[in-house]
Amino acid sequence: MEPESKIETFDLNLYYGVFRALTDVNIRIPARSVTAIIGPSGCGKSTLLRCFNRMNDLVEHTQVKGRIVIDGQDILEPEADLIALRRKVGMVFQRPNVFSLSIYNNLKFGLRIHSMLSRRDQIMQTVRQGLEQVGLWDDLKDKLSANAQSLTLEQQQRLCLARVLILRPDIILLDEPCSALDPIATLRVEEMLRVLRKDYTLIIVTHNMQQAGRVSDFTGFMYLGRLIEFAGTQKIFTNPAEQLTEDYIRGSFG
Ligand SMILES: Nc1ncnc2c1ncn2[C@@H]1O[C@H](COP(=O)(O)OP(=O)(O)OP(=O)(O)O)[C@@H](O)[C@H]1O
Ligand SMILES: [Mg+2]
Repeated sequence: MEPESKIETFDLNLYYGVFRALTDVNIRIPARSVTAIIGPSGCGKSTLLRCFNRMNDLVEHTQVKGRIVIDGQDILEPEADLIALRRKVGMVFQRPNVFSLSIYNNLKFGLRIHSMLSRRDQIMQTVRQGLEQVGLWDDLKDKLSANAQSLTLEQQQRLCLARVLILRPDIILLDEPCSALDPIATLRVEEMLRVLRKDYTLIIVTHNMQQAGRVSDFTGFMYLGRLIEFAGTQKIFTNPAEQLTEDYIRGSFG
């Protein structure tokens, strides 16, 4: 049986000015699984990821063509609700982007923007759930008023994920989320992603092939703005259909 698809693109093309950064990308991302996007630097991984919550709209002179369908709806339609889209499709970046606010206020901030909760006891309960989901509650429950920037990088990255999770997204985009972390912290974060995939659709961009192998169910390999191959991770790493994929995985380039 075909897995249920969460995101599907049809001949997706993206231009930065005259530069074509994505060329005819047709990808189907299965629901409730981890998809890794791999490929050499500059091949369009981050650009593709940013398409899924229309973050590229914030980049000047960007033009997008084609269709991006999430849960049956074309998110490129002019009437698409961008605030709702960005709540539904959360994003975590390479460097944890915590605000210079308390841990509590970092979490409350997103809830406020989306006017999701107003009662203090409800907010507290949600903050707690978010921190529990990312394994931070026990460590941080007694210092919720500490500045979030005083946390370790791993804690900051987990906090960023909690900030996304409490908005109840369906999809979480992760752009090299572990590249600032040490190997042990990286393994712990990967472990958390494996748990989250039961309830969310996760898409992780990574330069780390071992990470893609450990954490993902499906892998897409990109090269020069094109999606060269998309398949189960096992297949991509053991028996890819394309020579280019094989060369990349064997470390011949990139
Ligand atoms: N705002 C922009 N304006 C013009 N060109 C851009 C812009 N952002 C990215 N590009 C170009 O688009 C291409 C794809 O960039 P992108 O950042 O998506 O690649 P990437 O695969 O994420 O690379 P990396 O692995 O280095 O993060 C690159 O050639 C890059 O230089
Ligand atoms: Mg990138």
